Amino acid sequence: MIRCISCGAEYGLDEIIYTCRECDSILEVVMEPDVSRDIFECRRNTMWKYKEFMPVDETRIISLQEGGTPFIKCDRLGEELGVNLHVKVEGSNPTGSFKDRGMSVGITKAVELGVDTVGCASTGNTSASLAAYAARAGLKCIVLLPSGKVALGKLAQAMFHGAEVLSVNGNFDEALEAVTALALEGELYLLNSINPYRLEGQKSIGFEIVDDLGWRSPDRIILPVGNAGNISAIWKGIREFYEAGFIEDLPRMTGIQAEGACPITNAVRKGADEIIPVENPETVATAIRIGAPVSALKALRAIYDSDGTSDTVTDEEILDAQKLLARTEGIGVEPASASSIAGLRKLVESGEIDNGEDVVCIVTGHLLKDPNTAINACKEPVSIEANIESLKNVLKDL
Ligand code: F0G
Repeated sequence: MIRCISCGAEYGLDEIIYTCRECDSILEVVMEPDVSRDIFECRRNTMWKYKEFMPVDETRIISLQEGGTPFIKCDRLGEELGVNLHVKVEGSNPTGSFKDRGMSVGITKAVELGVDTVGCASTGNTSASLAAYAARAGLKCIVLLPSGKVALGKLAQAMFHGAEVLSVNGNFDEALEAVTALALEGELYLLNSINPYRLEGQKSIGFEIVDDLGWRSPDRIILPVGNAGNISAIWKGIREFYEAGFIEDLPRMTGIQAEGACPITNAVRKGADEIIPVENPETVATAIRIGAPVSALKALRAIYDSDGTSDTVTDEEILDAQKLLARTEGIGVEPASASSIAGLRKLVESGEIDNGEDVVCIVTGHLLKDPNTAINACKEPVSIEANIESLKNVLKDL
């Protein structure tokens, strides 16, 4: 069933519904599969390993083999920061971000429902992923992007997979409002994370972390927060495995926002249950340049219920952390993703995170999503003639 997270109103799994008809709050899918964790053994390492927890018809799955992403023990960086660190590399998904998990379930549901057009507003990755999965399912796809604020790799993906790409004169929040209104008139099936099926796919990040750790929870999970779907999804996944008796502990959910786009952190600092939207959000991490996150209520519950926290990082801290991860561990991520590492660094320095804590940082999108920012952060390549003398000349100065 689909249930309202505020008033508890219930809806059928086959209804096309995004918000509660009774109270206008957001919805979640409720699943209570009665299975043992032994069934996961020997299954292929994709998110469909946990198919009993996915609310779609398993015989008709639209998949590009998403999930099963690398879970890297980062001893060098961990030592530098004084924690026991794993990094979950979501850039290794088919289109280079965690959105693929949500889209696999969302597009499978779209096909089950028999819709012919899907759409979203996006800061880039959602549109890249939706375009690819819509192509695989043979559906028409419309994406709305804030003009001039989408990283090049993401734009290339959305266009190349054949989506109708609309460049909106406005920010993400305004684009989302426009496309949601269109969806409510029945013109398209909305696949932003307000659609509860999206989060059902993304909760598999939580499944994989505790599975990879040998059926235990880390002390803390740190991740970037933009529209606030992912933190809600991961917490939902971990809780489902906890309630099924697969693990005995729960992690503290720690959401990191960019200083110029931080409505969730502002609410957590006040202990508030609701956010006040940030007007004109701005950050170099364009993926999380969001002022009015639609899943704020779920995200705040995840943070409060898990005894977690939220903090902000500056653009400079984000870019430093992006370079640190790339050069200490060889893991290349886009700026938004690096905010989890920047947040870890800040929270260790402030004493919020204890020495030796077991921390998992989620890095959400690949370095190549935003090639311009990466190139701008480096010095220009040295130009040489193609002979050994000029090469030696350069080498002696290194
Ligand atoms: N990291 C990356 C790389 C993202 O693309 C996003 C969101 C987030 C983190 C934040 O996740 O929204 O669930 O809190 N990108 C969306 C998009 C908004 O349109 O691609 P969230």
